[in-house]
Amino acid sequence: MHNNHSSLSARFDFTGRVVFVAGGSSGINLAIAEAFGAQGARLAIISRNEDRVATAVSQLQARGFEAFGQAADVRDPQALTQAFEATTARFGAIDVLISGAAGNFVAPATGMSTNAFKTVVDIDLLGTFNVLRLAYPHLRKPGAAVLNISAPQAFNPTRYQAHVCAAKAGVDMLTRVLAMEWGPDGIRVNSLVPGPIGDTEGVRRLAPSDEALAAMQASIPLGRFGLKQDVADMALMLCSDLAGFVTGAVLPVDGGSSLAGGRDLSGALRPQQTS
Ligand code: NAP
Ligand code: COA
Repeated sequence: MHNNHSSLSARFDFTGRVVFVAGGSSGINLAIAEAFGAQGARLAIISRNEDRVATAVSQLQARGFEAFGQAADVRDPQALTQAFEATTARFGAIDVLISGAAGNFVAPATGMSTNAFKTVVDIDLLGTFNVLRLAYPHLRKPGAAVLNISAPQAFNPTRYQAHVCAAKAGVDMLTRVLAMEWGPDGIRVNSLVPGPIGDTEGVRRLAPSDEALAAMQASIPLGRFGLKQDVADMALMLCSDLAGFVTGAVLPVDGGSSLAGGRDLSGALRPQQTS
């Protein structure tokens, strides 16, 4: 599998590999889980809501994938540890770890309480640290691939996104630092940066009206919203042996939208949040 001369398809094969997706019950992260399932991986997912996890697991199993999941909040180290232990007891060491749990709302900094700012940092940044740090004993060494799901706010300053900008910039720094610390273990750590992806909760929150959606689409050089599959394809690539020498990378999958810089999200603000 790690032989450079093996065939392309063999180096892209996830048969029997163990993939853990934090925040995997919906949207982009669920699409990533499905993509790995379609390549033969065994799947473990977690998110806060037990019903949402159960629905997603049923959806994965209905496609014939080996999958299980349980409720765990990435802000709760004990719940995470329990989920990692359950995963390795069932499947063995984790080959691919996806950290994609996140929360967002649109508000000016003056419209955010300390707890509002802290809540997003706790989920996105501290949550990512928790997921990676607590998964570490359970990751395959050598060979594991870790993928953090970042966002364009990490490098594009964006009005009304102070919490997400700060948190996701931190996520990308964690990616780089842990790529250095865990490289000697044979663990690769990368960030994937989706641009605006259609039919997702993320875009519904940032562009809640037709006008805001049209403005967002107009800012994407390739002229269309991304598909969840666009992100899932690159997740497969970065976690496969085809990317065996790639670590510490922060890769946009965004139709060029980051090239256009930060967004004006005033179209997403509700009147009561501006006061
Ligand atoms: P989504 O469907 O809301 O996905 C978020 C997932 O995280 C859900 O499964 C949610 O399930 C889980 N989650 C939230 N808080 C959690 C917590 N504290 N602990 C554990 N799980 C938690 O949103 P999405 O739009 O697909 O976004 C997925 C990822 O892509 C996020 O990291 C986001 O920042 C990134 N992204 C999205 C876009 C986009 O266009 N949508 C663009 C750039 C980046 P529960 O409610 O059950 O917890
Ligand atoms: N504007 C300003 N503050 C807001 C807000 C908004 N639109 N929405 C929530 N807050 C504040 C709350 O008032 C609270 O602060 P307070 O205690 O000072 O009143 C703080 O944020 C935490 O809110 P709470 O609802 O208790 O947090 P939670 O942990 O239950 O939920 C969120 C986290 C707020 C991020 C919620 O939107 C969520 O669960 N999101 C997940 C889905 C998602 O965002 N998907 C897109 C991913 S990109």
